[in-house]
Formats: sequence, C-alpha cells, structure tokens
Amino acid sequence: MADRSRPLTADRVVPLLPGRFGRPYRWSEECASTQDELRDAGLPDGAVAVTDHQTGGRGRSGRSWSDVAGRSLLLSVLLRPPAGGPVEQLSLVVGLAVAEAIEATTGLATTIKWPNDVLVGERKVAGILLESSGETVICGIGVNVAQDDSELPAGTRLPSTSLRVATGRAQDRLTLLVALLASLESRYETWLAAALAPLLPELERRDALRGKAVTIGSHTGTAGGIASDGRLRILTPEGETLVASGEVVLQVSD
Ligand code: BTN
Repeated sequence: MADRSRPLTADRVVPLLPGRFGRPYRWSEECASTQDELRDAGLPDGAVAVTDHQTGGRGRSGRSWSDVAGRSLLLSVLLRPPAGGPVEQLSLVVGLAVAEAIEATTGLATTIKWPNDVLVGERKVAGILLESSGETVICGIGVNVAQDDSELPAGTRLPSTSLRVATGRAQDRLTLLVALLASLESRYETWLAAALAPLLPELERRDALRGKAVTIGSHTGTAGGIASDGRLRILTPEGETLVASGEVVLQVSD
C-alpha cells in the first residue's frame, strides 16, 4: 500500500521537529529533484525540501535515481559549513545520521559502505548525494521505505532493498523523517564542534567494507577502516594507501 494518503506536508512534519533542521520546510507532491528546490539565496543551514516523487532524481557519479511515487523518503538538506573546511567528510556525517534514524525507527541493523551508501545486510536501502556550490552543500537523501520487491530497481551496482522488504512490515515515513532530521542536526553540530573524531566509533561499528577486498580507482587491496580525516584506508602488499573519494568496487571471490 502506497503512503500517498499520508503525504509529508509541512502541517504534519513541522510541529514534530525538535530542532532547527527542517526550518524552513518545503514540500512538493512532485518535482524534478529536491536538490534544485533549495537553490535560492539566503536559505539558512538546515533548510529542507521533501517530495513524494522526482521526475529527474539524481544519484552519484552522474547516475539517475528513480522512484515510485509515495514509496520513498526523498529529501535534500541545505548546509552552510565553515568555508575551507573538509566538506567531503559530510558524506560520512550524513550517512551516519541516516543509518541511526533507520535503526531507531525500524530496529534494523545497518552498515555504511564508505563513503555513504546505507545497507541492510548486503543490500542498499539509502543513497546520499552531496552537491556543493559556493558556501553551501546540499545533501540529498533517498531512502527506500515502502517498495515491495517488484518496485525496487533491478540491475543496480548494489542490490536494493526497502525498509518494508527488510522488516516485513509497513514503515512510517513521517517518523523516519523526523528522526533523520534530529539525528542529522545532532551529528552535524558534533562535526562542526570537533570534526569527525567523536563520530568515528559509530562509523567504525557500521563499516561495511572493513576486511573486504576492494578496488577504488587504481587502488586494489583490503579495506582497513576509516581514518580520522574520513579517508578510507586500503591495505596493499606495498603498504597503506588513504583514499579520499571514489567508487568502491567490491571484489568477488570465486
Ligand atoms: C546515490 O546513491 O547514488 C545517491 C542517491 C541520492 C538520491 C537522493 S533522492 C533526494 C535527492 N534528490 C536527488 O535528485 N537525489 C537525492
């Protein structure tokens, strides 16, 4: 059953928000991409756009992100981190917030495939896209919530799942959205105050790659955890390499 009868309109969401994230809150029944709904100047840190359906949803590395109307949580959050800071670390901050919100509202265990795919088991349940422009970073988050198996995308890099498929029961997008914005605000404030160090234990606990054979660009080796600056450690016969960004390909052993 689609969640379309319960759209994530401002009148339902804003009264439940515990902090400053989600203010202002922009909801649309349909848009091209929530990433483009927060472009006007002057919007504050924590402004949020949410939609029920995107006609031009974007994924990482130039891929598209498709959805079935009303089945996903689709949002963008505008952040204004200090100029010159390590904004690439925000991938991990947002990934952690998404993972925590899913765990808190569904009871599922999640992991994070560096830098920011959120998995349940071996399957991707949420994707994150960071787009920077000037002093703003727009964090796009897509969570598969209510899709059944037949509605999940096929042929993706990682197999997909939804919260409904993974738990075997319906999940409430409103509860998840409120938990996600609270978690993201809290984790972002921590990062602003003290960078990644206080978040590392929670990231390491959910590290989907540690000990796995991986290739990133020209680097092949064993994933050796996340460094304090957010880079991925790759252990090779020649020693340790730290990788700042890139697409991780898991090596499949025969
Ligand atoms: C990925 O895993 O490739 C990232 C997917 C990000 C999808 C979200 S949905 C809300 C926001 N709007 C977009 O167009 N993309 C992000």
